[in-house]
Amino acid sequence: MKQITCIEDLREIARRKVPRAFFDYAEAGSYSEETLRANRADLEKIKLRQRVLVDVSTRNTSSIMAGEPVSLPLALAPVAMTGLEHGSGEILACRAAQTAGIPFTLSTLSICSIEDVSEAVDKPFWFQLYVMKDRSFVRSLVERAVAAKCSALVLTADLQVLGQRHIDIKNGLSVPPALKLRNLFDMITKPAWVYGVLSARRWTFGNLDGHVKGMDGVKSLAQWVGSQFDQTLSWKDVGWVRSIWPGKLIIKGILDVDDAKLAVKVGADAIVVSNHGGRQLDGAASSISMLPQIADAIGSEAEVLFDGGIRTGQDVFRALALGAKGCFIGRAYIFGLGAGGEAGVLKAIEIIRKELEVSMALTGVNQLSEIGRQNLVAHQGRFMEYGGILEADHNAIN
Ligand code: GLV
Repeated sequence: MKQITCIEDLREIARRKVPRAFFDYAEAGSYSEETLRANRADLEKIKLRQRVLVDVSTRNTSSIMAGEPVSLPLALAPVAMTGLEHGSGEILACRAAQTAGIPFTLSTLSICSIEDVSEAVDKPFWFQLYVMKDRSFVRSLVERAVAAKCSALVLTADLQVLGQRHIDIKNGLSVPPALKLRNLFDMITKPAWVYGVLSARRWTFGNLDGHVKGMDGVKSLAQWVGSQFDQTLSWKDVGWVRSIWPGKLIIKGILDVDDAKLAVKVGADAIVVSNHGGRQLDGAASSISMLPQIADAIGSEAEVLFDGGIRTGQDVFRALALGAKGCFIGRAYIFGLGAGGEAGVLKAIEIIRKELEVSMALTGVNQLSEIGRQNLVAHQGRFMEYGGILEADHNAIN
C-alpha cells in the first residue's frame, strides 16, 4: 500500500473503503458548495511568513481548550453518523483522540450513544447538542451528558433547518442503510466496512432510539431535522441550556460579530467560528475570512475556536495566527476513520501535529501563544480578496 503522508491519502483510501452514500455524506457541502470551496480557498490564500535562523528547539504544541489541557490545539468535531463511516466509529475516534491528548465531540446524531462511548473510554469527552422541539428530551440529553461526565457541551446554533446536500438525496442516504440493490453492490466491494458495521452494537441513531417518540420510519437526517428541529429556537433557549448545563458551554456555528457578542452575553465559555463545514448556508463567507473580526471583538471575553476546511497543520497555524485558540477537524478525521478505524484517526491527528510543528519551526516560533498576525505575509496589504476584513490589519504586520 502506498505510504500515507497527508490527509488527502487518507481521503483516497476512505473513498475506496466506505460505501458511497456515507463517504459522500461526510464530504458534501450544501447546494452549489460555494461556501465549502471558499473555506479551503481562503485558507490557502493566507501565506505564512518564513523566518530563519531562530532557535526552535523548544517547540511545544500543548495548549488549553475550554479549560482542558490539550497536546495540540485541535479537537474532533461532532459528525453525525460517524458509526456508519466505520462500525463503532464514535468509540474508535474518541479513543484515538484520547490517546493523542485532544478532545473528542460526540454528535447528538451519533450511532453509538453517549452511554456506549462513556463505557468504552476512560476520560471525559465533549457532547454536541441539537436543541429540538421536545424540550424534555433535550433536558434528558443534557442530563445523560452530565451523567456520562462529559466535560463540555457544544451547542450547535446553525442548524434549525437543513441546508440541502444534493448528493445525499441522489444517493438515497438513510439510517440504517437501505438494503437496495445499488447499495448492496456497493457494500459487497467494501467487506471491511460491512464487517465493522455488522460487528457494532447499533446501526441507528443511538442517542435517540428508544428515547424519542415518533422515530419509527425516520430514516434520513433531512426527515429527522424536518420533524424534530425547532425553528423557534432563539437565544432565550440557549440561556435555558446554559442554566441546566453546569460545565463549559461552547456555541458552535457563529459567523458574525453581533452573534458572537450575543453568545458571550448568554454565558458561552467559548464559541466556534463556523459555517458548519460549508454544509448549511451556501453563499456564506468562509469561516477563516470571518475569524479575525470575531476574535478581535470577543476574544478577550470568550475563547474563540475555529472550524471550516482544516486539512493541515499549516491551516491550524493560519487559524491561530488570526485569533483562534484551537481548531476542530471533521472531514479530516472522518477520512482517517474510514481509511483505518482508530489507527486511521490517530494517523490523521499525528499528520496535523507534525505539520504544525514543522510550520512553527519554519516560522521561527516555539510557543503557540507567540503565533499571531505578525506570522503572516500581507498580500497587497490584505490577507483576503473580499470581505474587507483584514484591510485594517496590515499595519500590524511587520
Ligand atoms: C449535520 O450536522 C450535518 O452537517 O450533516
